[in-house]
Amino acid sequence: MRRSFSILLCFAILISFAGCRGGNVTESSAGRAFVIGFSQVGAESDWRIANTKSMTETFQGDPEYEFRMENARQQQENQFAAVRRFILEGVDLIVIAPTVEDGWQTVLTEVHDAGIPVIITDRSVSVWDNNLYLTNVGSNFYGQGKKAVDWLSEETRGESNVNILHLQGTIGATAQIQRTQALEDAAANQGNWITNKLYGDFTEAKAYEVMTDYLATTHDIDVLYSENDNMTFGAMRAFDEAGITYGEGGQVKIITFDATKEALQYCMDGKIDLCVECNPLFGPMVKELIEKYRKGEDIPKQVYVEEKVFTSKDLDQAFIDSREY
Ligand code: AHR
Repeated sequence: MRRSFSILLCFAILISFAGCRGGNVTESSAGRAFVIGFSQVGAESDWRIANTKSMTETFQGDPEYEFRMENARQQQENQFAAVRRFILEGVDLIVIAPTVEDGWQTVLTEVHDAGIPVIITDRSVSVWDNNLYLTNVGSNFYGQGKKAVDWLSEETRGESNVNILHLQGTIGATAQIQRTQALEDAAANQGNWITNKLYGDFTEAKAYEVMTDYLATTHDIDVLYSENDNMTFGAMRAFDEAGITYGEGGQVKIITFDATKEALQYCMDGKIDLCVECNPLFGPMVKELIEKYRKGEDIPKQVYVEEKVFTSKDLDQAFIDSREY
């Protein structure tokens, strides 16, 4: 009697653990919403705002899901705190859009030890154990940079020296590391490309500030390689104030990353030469992967979104108006 009571007790304990969370999460969705904790980088750019909207609209309004988002205001420590709160709250799955790649091993190990699956979105994490997350959904940032430098290499063929001003985003973020790498690899092969770097933190305000200071020292710029649209807008304002022309027929060729509506409009109007798309609208893709995971299906370790490049020739008003971001 005593023995069968102990066996029953063991079963009860096992079942209650499985109900909290399991390797395959199917049990936890029975009868209640599946809770997702999302640690977002911040609201530093139009791209980020579109990404937050895509993630939020995908899950909110679906009674199968409860979506809790925390804005880290571009600080990794805020992300660690948010993730630890999600563990304490016992969410079913955590989505992290990491500010920077390094520093994630400890907190992701804590999540793993708590038995909570993790999906990394947008940028990547650099951890020695890739089993700490299920999948990484986002852009091929090196591929974006490669498209940009391939275009520039055609445009500057036969020119003697090309002075490239490189506006960098948050140092250590995958978007910065890989877009920078693509430019540096190409510059090393070109021989006639001279690059100078400025730090713009992916924000319009910072880019405007550093560009204004830089233009007080020199106007010798042939190309602006700006790692996101918002920094480009800040740089354009500084160019305007310094009387420097840019875009088609201007002194400075502008390459920008994201392809937001506003940047595409400038591109169609001849103010920006190349828009490299960075697609933030992957909320539905993340949901699809979560649903596969919940059904116990295999999901790929890396999923890239589709992206294009645009010059003024590729654009018309109807297309720009139809864009979601
Ligand atoms: O990680 C994506 C990058 O981060 C986008 O290019 C930029 O606009 C955002 O802030």
